[in-house]
Amino acid sequence: MIWSIESMPRQEGRIAFITGANSGLGFDTAQALLEKGATVIIGCRSLVKAQQACHQLKDKTDCKNIDVLEIDLADLEKVNKAIDLMSTKYKKLDLLINNAGVMAPPWTASKQGYEIQFAVNHLSHMALTLKLLPLLEKQPGARIVTVSSGAQYMGKINWGDLQGKQQYDRWASYSQSKLANVMFALELNQRLMRSNIPVASLSAHPGLARTNLQRNSVKANKAWQEAVAYKLMDPLFQSSRMGSLPQLLAATNPNAKGGEQYGPRFNFRGHPKMCRIAPFALDQEGREHLWEVSERLIEGFVDINKGNALLCRNE
Ligand SMILES: NC(=O)c1ccc[n+]([C@@H]2O[C@H](COP(=O)([O-])OP(=O)(O)OC[C@H]3O[C@@H](n4cnc5c(N)ncnc54)[C@H](OP(=O)(O)O)[C@@H]3O)[C@@H](O)[C@H]2O)c1
Repeated sequence: MIWSIESMPRQEGRIAFITGANSGLGFDTAQALLEKGATVIIGCRSLVKAQQACHQLKDKTDCKNIDVLEIDLADLEKVNKAIDLMSTKYKKLDLLINNAGVMAPPWTASKQGYEIQFAVNHLSHMALTLKLLPLLEKQPGARIVTVSSGAQYMGKINWGDLQGKQQYDRWASYSQSKLANVMFALELNQRLMRSNIPVASLSAHPGLARTNLQRNSVKANKAWQEAVAYKLMDPLFQSSRMGSLPQLLAATNPNAKGGEQYGPRFNFRGHPKMCRIAPFALDQEGREHLWEVSERLIEGFVDINKGNALLCRNE
């Protein structure tokens, strides 16, 4: 059976937080959830872009239940402050969609000196998820959806040089960060189950979708050959709205379960279905190691509830 936005149950009374919601898949995810009656908090690094997106979403959906949160995932201390601010206003959360991402830029450091893709795509999402857990825990049936990519299947974790400081390959680092997304989503789900916390963690990938992701990557690298390649590949790409369906399914389908991953039916494009998880992410030892290393890279910058049962330091 084909799953589309029409298949999505009504979302009245549910509160969703989406990172990177001013553009592409995040914007379309916000629009669909608003159309179904959810309250949506859009997390964006630029307040100006956030306000613009907010106006566009209000115009498109005629919904007013939308809020903005300024959150820069390239700085863990800013993530910490943004989530503190959000937690003073909201006492519960039903849906967290870890969507924001950056693809294959030249080597760039996050505020804490980590490689930007590892920091933005993986570490900051892990940090904000752990910090938001007390709000999610209050809502039985709450879900966390982490957006990965087909690049997970090519990804390897470079344990000896996680930050690409010795040798940087921008595509290998992107694939590493997207594999880390799936490893995190799966490990999180196992830790939630072990601790009897009624929150599910799933992952999703959009296939190939026309968004600003490719444009920004070309611009950052001045890689005009890649711009030509994207033009030639255009027929393979689907719309951003179609690309947002796997994460929407993972977030709202009553039959979707923690630990599952959704992606397009034909890998690059098509309506969503459950899809296989990259074999590397199935290795429990690797997942536990990534969790432990990531926890260490985050701590000191982000206050996570000391009693948080998911942390290695509490095991
Ligand atoms: N499009 C595809 O074909 C494709 C394929 C596989 C996976 N994905 C994944 O899908 C997700 C969404 O990407 P998209 O395709 O919708 O691309 P997009 O249109 O470029 O959207 C990415 C979003 O992430 C935000 N972002 C980037 N760096 C950030 C930071 N430091 N702090 C906070 N927000 C930041 C961007 O903000 P600004 O607007 O300010 O830059 C934007 O809102 C990403 O995780 C990406 O890896 C996309």
